[in-house]
Amino acid sequence: MDIADSMVSLARRYNRYGERCKYHVNKSDNLGLFADDTFDFVYSLIVLQHLEPRFGKRYIAEFVRVLKPGGVVAFQIPSAYLGRTPRPFARLLRGLSSKVIRPLMEMYCIPPAEVFEVVAGAGAQMIRIFNDGACGPDYESCHYVVYKPR
Ligand SMILES: C[S@@+](CC[C@H](N)C(=O)[O-])C[C@H]1O[C@@H](n2cnc3c(N)ncnc32)[C@H](O)[C@@H]1O
Repeated sequence: MDIADSMVSLARRYNRYGERCKYHVNKSDNLGLFADDTFDFVYSLIVLQHLEPRFGKRYIAEFVRVLKPGGVVAFQIPSAYLGRTPRPFARLLRGLSSKVIRPLMEMYCIPPAEVFEVVAGAGAQMIRIFNDGACGPDYESCHYVVYKPR
């Protein structure tokens, strides 16, 4: 699932699994196109980091909602900015450079305590968390593995 038509078009073009694999464009702030308890496994990598935390947290709760009881969600999101340039200044520089060099790629972090709170609030259990280095040296990036009890 992706917000961008272009990404989903490319995914469909390169699909090697026929009807077994379906790709969806979703431009809403939820996963309402899927019913509760639909999937055995939900996975998200280097996507939530581009969403404002209020939307990222909503998606995490939605991952749990669409998961079947007994299923697992794995997702990645940065927990902290570690860059040497103070974050507000870094954002300003990136904002200015985006006007003249290239579009701005927004990056957001969610502290693990807040991720735990969302997961518990959605009725699931955190079973594993580890650093995955997915965002390079300027960020601490966490991978979370979550279980939805039967
Ligand atoms: C860095 S790419 C990662 C793509 C893929 N997950 C991977 O690992 O190769 C980030 C993707 O997130 C998508 N994206 C950004 N905001 C989104 C949103 N609100 N809902 C769904 N996809 C979103 C972008 O269109 C882009 O394709």
